[in-house]
Amino acid sequence: MATINDNYLKLPGSYLFAEIGRRVAAYKEAHPQADIIRLGIGDVTQPLPPACIEAMHKAVDELAKAETFRGYGPEQGYSFLTEAILKNNYEPYGLHFGTDEIFVSDGSKSDCGNIQEIFGLTDKVAITDPVYPVYLDTNVMAGRTGELQEDGHFEGVTYLPCTAENNFAPELPQEHVDMIYLCCPNNPTGTTLSHAELKKWVDYAKKEDAVILFDAAYAAYITEDDVPRTIYEIEGATEVAIEFRSFSKTAGFTGTRCGYTIIPKGVTGKAADGSRVDFNRLWNRRHTTKFNGTAYIVQRGAAAIYTEEGKAQVKETIAYYMENARLIREGLKAAGIEAYGGINAPYIWLKTPNNMPSWDFFDKLLTEVNIVGTPGAGFGPCGEGYFRLTAFGGRENTLRAVERIKKMKI
Ligand code: MLT
Repeated sequence: MATINDNYLKLPGSYLFAEIGRRVAAYKEAHPQADIIRLGIGDVTQPLPPACIEAMHKAVDELAKAETFRGYGPEQGYSFLTEAILKNNYEPYGLHFGTDEIFVSDGSKSDCGNIQEIFGLTDKVAITDPVYPVYLDTNVMAGRTGELQEDGHFEGVTYLPCTAENNFAPELPQEHVDMIYLCCPNNPTGTTLSHAELKKWVDYAKKEDAVILFDAAYAAYITEDDVPRTIYEIEGATEVAIEFRSFSKTAGFTGTRCGYTIIPKGVTGKAADGSRVDFNRLWNRRHTTKFNGTAYIVQRGAAAIYTEEGKAQVKETIAYYMENARLIREGLKAAGIEAYGGINAPYIWLKTPNNMPSWDFFDKLLTEVNIVGTPGAGFGPCGEGYFRLTAFGGRENTLRAVERIKKMKI
């Protein structure tokens, strides 16, 4: 008889954004005339940069001729892309990685979710609370946690609260942990860690022989100087950190799918026989076994963001979203709502008025002013009493949403 992976039954019924989609669809069915503005899931609305489109068209034409056709590519990504990434995103900081330390993929959600497969099942996991649900859910699926408890925490996981009280900077754990998920700029809070804060984590990881799984999907949105653009700016990080990056939020690839992961060869873990093994080798084994490479057309498009035109176009789109972030932040302030983030990230994390439970605030916004956001509680127990709005909407919708919120009775 086939049995199931019972760990899946520990999870709440549906993934956060699927649940939001379900509720919005039900509302829309009951109120077909409702003019809904979606500032929930962090999905981009602006088109791909023209440089990417042009490169992708060219790639399509190459595939149309036998002489330039390409089938399977290198699972780890074409060198035209990996070299451009290293040259533009790491070398300016004096960081030099080999092209065998970078793995191109179909997006960092997959990588953040799959990376735990190359860690031992008894490894202790630490996550911030609130957190992007993928880190936790995939560890639950793998069996690295106990059951979900009444307080909303999974047994066996170390939660690191990030709230306004600690300025959204997690404290080091009191106990030993092996895998630490950090996201900076943070999804969902839109806040960041300074060099000094991040250094504390790298030092902790070195002392505890732990690995930091660093999600830098929103790095392109950083505006302030004291925020590391990559964890490898921190001394010692190449021995203890794996970094995930994405073209989704950087250049509009949410639907096109492209991301990458850096695994320096110095990041190692202990094997059962006591020897040290580098995670790079294991990930390479996994990647080549389970993945056949990101589409050539998509990689050509991604590489185009590093051309002069591509860089200028990406900068313009990011400025557009960050102006939305400013409008939302200031609009909330004018409405008397406390808000965080939105300076180095496309997310605004607001305190719900009168400490309203976040799912109640979700319903209120949806039903009273037809705006979809994301309830903080969906990101973890410490997200209760908070709510996330994304700056990825179109300008007109963002302005309309702000006006509606300002008029709302709170
Ligand atoms: C979010 O809204 O948190 C993100 O869009 C989810 C993702 O990037 O997968």
